[in-house]
Amino acid sequence: MAYITQNFAGLPAPVRIGLIGSGWMGAFHAESIARRVPGAVLSAIADPNVESAEALATALGTPKVTANAEDILADSEIDAVIIASPARFHSSLIAQAAAAGKHVFCEKPAGQGLDELDTALAAVEAAGVHFQIGFNRRYADDFQAAKKDLAEGVAGTPQLLRSLTRDPGTGSIPNAARVPAWTIFLETLIHDFDTLNWFNEGAEPVEVYAVADALVEPGLRDQGFLDTAVVTIRYSNGALAVAEANFSALYGYDIRGEVFGSKGMVQAGRATESAARRYTAEGLSAETPRLNIELFKQAYTDELADFAGAVRARRDGVPAPSSDFTLTPGGADARRALAVALACIDSVKQGGPVAVAGLAVLSALDDKAGV
Ligand SMILES: NC(=O)c1ccc[n+]([C@@H]2O[C@H](COP(=O)([O-])OP(=O)(O)OC[C@H]3O[C@@H](n4cnc5c(N)ncnc54)[C@H](O)[C@@H]3O)[C@@H](O)[C@H]2O)c1
Repeated sequence: MAYITQNFAGLPAPVRIGLIGSGWMGAFHAESIARRVPGAVLSAIADPNVESAEALATALGTPKVTANAEDILADSEIDAVIIASPARFHSSLIAQAAAAGKHVFCEKPAGQGLDELDTALAAVEAAGVHFQIGFNRRYADDFQAAKKDLAEGVAGTPQLLRSLTRDPGTGSIPNAARVPAWTIFLETLIHDFDTLNWFNEGAEPVEVYAVADALVEPGLRDQGFLDTAVVTIRYSNGALAVAEANFSALYGYDIRGEVFGSKGMVQAGRATESAARRYTAEGLSAETPRLNIELFKQAYTDELADFAGAVRARRDGVPAPSSDFTLTPGGADARRALAVALACIDSVKQGGPVAVAGLAVLSALDDKAGV
């Protein structure tokens, strides 16, 4: 018996993606594109550490490898890029990718200052490309369920909001001395700031008061290292929020969000790795999530599926995927969360509450995004 010839005419061409930065997060995103996101292919990998790029490409069957991101940006066979380099390169890479006509998914933070981010977002707007920031918590099932409830008014008017990050650890932080200054705000709590902004949609974060310390690694306090922080945020609708983070939870990766309002409360956050429970003479126990790529495996995959869908829609002129509630985090969201993180740094330096800068520009960005 002979094989039956299949006709693929009319099927959409896959979205061709280039990865910039093949470290911890980039490698996971690469694997998601190559193995878990239908309709997308990983076409190329760029990393100045070319051995890292080559090893990943070999593992995933990616045909093109380069030490230089410019090769990907100049490649007419690539539709979009995922930027997962260290944060200090993000704004310039966004601007260069947009100028080259590539749609952009960028890991957080999109920049380290509002000026550089504004330049990058102006390039995105000028090029008319799609931009998405890696605020993956929005794609977790429980955070989406909470957001859907909030959009339907289940909690009423928000009065108190809470978001927390406890990174998994052993009680000490490897290579802590090499962690860039202010990472706890710019790269960790920035997720919580986005969750709070998203949960309190329509309101602006107007004032923050941040306190932070080195409680896990007190020996590094004098060098300015921070591993523990609490932030209060006052919003333009009067709601008050608290975000907190610690870099070393011995019980695993603990991420939660909550909105308390005039009609009730919604909560998100998965305490156990599965629904299984262990009942013994010692009592009740369960496995906890240990890594971000365990807790958020599906969320990381779904954010890239959303990105690929949006890129396909723009490239092929078909309707973009839609949702019952605001979902895809874009330039205004990247900027709003960064503005809060930068205000936290000022607050720690000044030892008191500070106003969040740049809110007028945020409103203009929202208007353009149709929010
Ligand atoms: N969304 C999340 O939950 C999450 C989790 C972890 C990390 N991140 C973010 O991902 C980004 C990368 O973090 P990581 O932990 O993967 O870091 P990493 O150090 O493991 O990887 C960074 C990689 O980028 C490469 N690189 C350096 N300069 C480059 C350049 N100019 N162009 C291209 N590549 C370059 C490095 O060689 C390295 O391979 C950071 O912005 C971080 O905040 C996000």
